[in-house]
Amino acid sequence: MDVTDETGIFNPLAPGYTEDPYSHFAIVRSSAPVQQTLVGPWALFSYDDVFALLRDPELSVDDANSTPDGDDDRQAKFEELLAEFEVDARGDSSILNTDPPDHTRLRKLVSKAFTPRVIESLRDRIQSLVDEALDPMNDSGHGDVVDELAFALPFDVISEMLGMPPGDTLALRGWSEAMVKTLDPIISDDEFREAFVSARKMDAHIEQVIEWKRANPGDDLLTGLIEAEDDGDRLSSIELRDQVTLLFIAGHETTVNLIGTGIFELQRNPEQLATLRDDPSLTQDAIDELLRFIAPVQFSRRIATKDVTYRGLVIPKGSFIFACLASANRDPDHFGETADQLILDRPNASQHVSFGSGSHYCLGSSLAKLEAEIAIGTFISRFPDAVIEGEPHWNGRMNLRGLKSLPMKVR
Ligand code: HEM
Repeated sequence: MDVTDETGIFNPLAPGYTEDPYSHFAIVRSSAPVQQTLVGPWALFSYDDVFALLRDPELSVDDANSTPDGDDDRQAKFEELLAEFEVDARGDSSILNTDPPDHTRLRKLVSKAFTPRVIESLRDRIQSLVDEALDPMNDSGHGDVVDELAFALPFDVISEMLGMPPGDTLALRGWSEAMVKTLDPIISDDEFREAFVSARKMDAHIEQVIEWKRANPGDDLLTGLIEAEDDGDRLSSIELRDQVTLLFIAGHETTVNLIGTGIFELQRNPEQLATLRDDPSLTQDAIDELLRFIAPVQFSRRIATKDVTYRGLVIPKGSFIFACLASANRDPDHFGETADQLILDRPNASQHVSFGSGSHYCLGSSLAKLEAEIAIGTFISRFPDAVIEGEPHWNGRMNLRGLKSLPMKVR
């Protein structure tokens, strides 16, 4: 099947999907907006359904509540690997994968570090990191925008916020890349195994970092979370490790796509780029429209703890349900006939679901927007005549979709 197939069966392995999943979503949305995918989990593609699913407080995010129907039994694969590697681990106890009452308790602890005041206080530091990242490009006249800016900035910001020790960036990047594959709607057995092994390495690494931080406390997020752990009944040591891992990975594997693909999409829409260059006061609105247009996280998910009905189809209790945020953001029933166009001053752009919705709404949304505002705004003002030079490459991910490289000539 290719992306022009009119059957409406969701198939992220279809030729052309990596470069342009949106034409595929358009067909799926109009012919089968609620469907059980070929591998088992269900998926929703319209704005109204996605929004309702994300906000349903009775649904779960804990994989242990799923009773898979189809080939994609991730819980069984996980348990097989635990036995094979003789590891005794429960699933991930990060807030992204935890239901109330644990979710409520943990989110309250972690959110202290993400208040608007804390985030705004990072503005000057983020500006310096952006300036430093762009200096070598300015000197040479060329650069890879993903490597040098879009990846480097969020990675450095979350590492500094947490107070991570200087470490082996390449190894961390590799483990993190393998781990986020599990967020894709389809994953091969080999990828699942690699993600499992990488997660064990990441666990061991974060445990060492926590030990190091106990001996080297500072004015940082990790020290704050360790203090909460010392307070016993508020945060267990495994919960501490899993929150740190989530923040570290969510902190950089998502914003990279907003900044990298954001700069790319502005290049592909020169009139919009010119508007923004001429009126930088548009930047904050522009970031919301870029978030809508790009959806750096293309899918979120919930597990049905009861039978749920969407458009007359009953999704049975125990089903794993993907919410296609990227398709919801392009739904003409919500965003009108121009939904597939980038319009930086779109009045309702901020209604996008790129940060999810409901109780799991992205905790780092203000941080991500601030990073993107400064990175994209500064790039455009410093390099008004930048052009793409050579071939950009996509990272090939279904969920955390973005560019792996974006070579540009900046002057
Ligand atoms: C453009 C960048 C980002 C995007 C598109 C994004 C998107 C998302 C999405 C879709 C969710 C799940 C929401 C749901 O299922 O309802 C989420 C959750 C989360 N995000 Fe982000 N995120 C971004 C950046 C960040 C950053 C920079 C951080 C932290 C430094 C962060 C931390 C988190 C955390 C902790 C959660 C879990 C919240 C919970 O389950 O209660 N994110 N994010």
